[in-house]
Amino acid sequence: MVETAVNKGAPFLGRRVVVGVTGGIAAYKAAELVRLLVREAAEVLVAMTENATRFVSPLTFEALSGHRVIRSMWEADGTGIEHIAWGQEADLILVAPATANIIGKAACGIADDFLSTMLLAATAKILLCPSMNTRMFENPVLQENLSRLLQRGLSVLMPGAGALACRTEGRGRLPEPEDILEEARRLLTPQDLEGRKVLVTAGATREPIDPVRYVSNRSSGKMGYALARAARQRGAAVVLVSGATALKPPVGVEVVGVGTALDMRQAVFSRLVGCDMVIKAAAVSDYRPKTAAPQKVKKGAEELNLEMVKNPDILKELGMSKGDGGPLLVGFAAETEALLEHAREKLRSKNLDMIVANDVSAADAGFQTDTNRVKMLFRDGRVEESGLLSKDAVAHLVLDRAMEILTRRRAEA
Ligand code: CTP
Repeated sequence: MVETAVNKGAPFLGRRVVVGVTGGIAAYKAAELVRLLVREAAEVLVAMTENATRFVSPLTFEALSGHRVIRSMWEADGTGIEHIAWGQEADLILVAPATANIIGKAACGIADDFLSTMLLAATAKILLCPSMNTRMFENPVLQENLSRLLQRGLSVLMPGAGALACRTEGRGRLPEPEDILEEARRLLTPQDLEGRKVLVTAGATREPIDPVRYVSNRSSGKMGYALARAARQRGAAVVLVSGATALKPPVGVEVVGVGTALDMRQAVFSRLVGCDMVIKAAAVSDYRPKTAAPQKVKKGAEELNLEMVKNPDILKELGMSKGDGGPLLVGFAAETEALLEHAREKLRSKNLDMIVANDVSAADAGFQTDTNRVKMLFRDGRVEESGLLSKDAVAHLVLDRAMEILTRRRAEA
């Protein structure tokens, strides 16, 4: 498959995923996982163990996937080779939940039902998502089995800690379907950012007026979060310095929450060491109230004037202080007019390697939307237009171009 930014942004499109469901209480979460995979345009086939069918009916998975569910070696379609074909024609096999039993069987090469036999014959990537009682999970025999499977190249998404169905607390919870999906995305994506450290800023800063009010902007943080997810999906170690957003923190990313522009500046500069790339997608308030009132400002006079002072320009400071070996700097320019002219000026004055400009007054691009249409400007004067893409695809496109600059720079060094 040719890896374009569009299919990196939609890694399940046209991919075949086999979901193996085994007999644990978390089997009900596998139904949501299948629904999400189908929504992301994967072709999903489901194999269940006999015990899994005691928790959830195969009919649920058949309705969600649109395909027949296989439970036993003896209910195949007559060709008798599905236990081989499924595992070899799939792009990914996800076993969720994976019980201690299926993990033990896979580790020891036991093939006594459809799913375990398919796993033994599989050439596709396999992701196991263990879920069980904490004692079972911590049992050395289970841990040895997992280590063996990891050594053989299978992937394991470790369970979370929390309240378990057996009314105990501890490690053993199946991760949420969205988090399993995120790990699956990573497994389907080339790891071209492995060994790289990427710092992304996202969201809006909030500059307090008093304890209950602030000055901010309409940034949703979606573009920055998409960049952080995309970089992590491609193998980078990612730090996301995030202003206010309503978004869920991306899995596998170090999230540093900040309030004001001054907080953001401190967070960025203190985490700069070892960064290969800094991408500043945050919408930083250019000004802040000169003083924040210690108590709620009371309604009184007909007019209220707020005295504002300028915030530091974090990106400009980064650009001015970067030497030859400094991180690659990618800025964003949110504009409502004279897009190219303003973006070009920001690229130059902030000493950036690249700037991503978007017209935030357009209905399908910019703040709050799931799509974006950007122009990327480079130091050599080139301008590249993205066309209308999902923010995930734009994120991959930006990373593609940033990686090209980094690779070129390394070759010239
Ligand atoms: N930026 C920053 N610190 C600021 C203001 C902006 O780091 N105090 C960064 C943004 O994260 C973005 C880029 O600079 O990557 C451009 O931000 P933008 O708001 O478009 O431009 P400004 O430089 O603030 O200029 P103006 O508001 O006049 O358009």
